[in-house]
Amino acid sequence: MHLTIAYRTAESLLADLPSRWAHSRQVLEQAQRLSSVVVPGAEILAVAAVLHDVGYAPAAVDTGQHMIDGARYLTRLGVDSEVCSLVAYHSSSEWEAAELGLSAELAEFHRPPSELLDAITYCDLTSGPDGAEVDPVSRLDEVLRRYDPDHVVHRAVAAARPTLLAMVKRVEKRLAEPDRP
Ligand SMILES: [Fe+2]
Repeated sequence: MHLTIAYRTAESLLADLPSRWAHSRQVLEQAQRLSSVVVPGAEILAVAAVLHDVGYAPAAVDTGQHMIDGARYLTRLGVDSEVCSLVAYHSSSEWEAAELGLSAELAEFHRPPSELLDAITYCDLTSGPDGAEVDPVSRLDEVLRRYDPDHVVHRAVAAARPTLLAMVKRVEKRLAEPDRP
């Protein structure tokens, strides 16, 4: 799926969720900023970035785990499997799936290459819930505050936090490499 079509698809699916759409546009901006770090894969990353939260759209909700629901919805639309994999696994998906007993459903998708998974997770965690650029530590703290301690997202993010921050660090290191193209 080309980026222009992906953009329009996400825009229409998230039409009733303006904050999610503002957040998704910011995630796309971050992905475009990383384009020189993820050669090849920049186009896949950008398409996945703008589509990564479509699983929150009413048309896509099924299991309630938005990464899986989004990836399944996009698969039904015929979107490339590399993009669907990134949507399926982004950020704390593996931890949420485990909490919800949905690991088998997540395993319907191939785990993406770690470089791209690091990149989409970096883009998500540096984009705030309303579209502003944020620091990943405050972003994770904000998610932990937004959900009750016994909520699945809170538990998953608390468990995932060290790994997610290590993913962000790897991307920051590559961004800082002086010899990158
Ligand atoms: Fe997101």
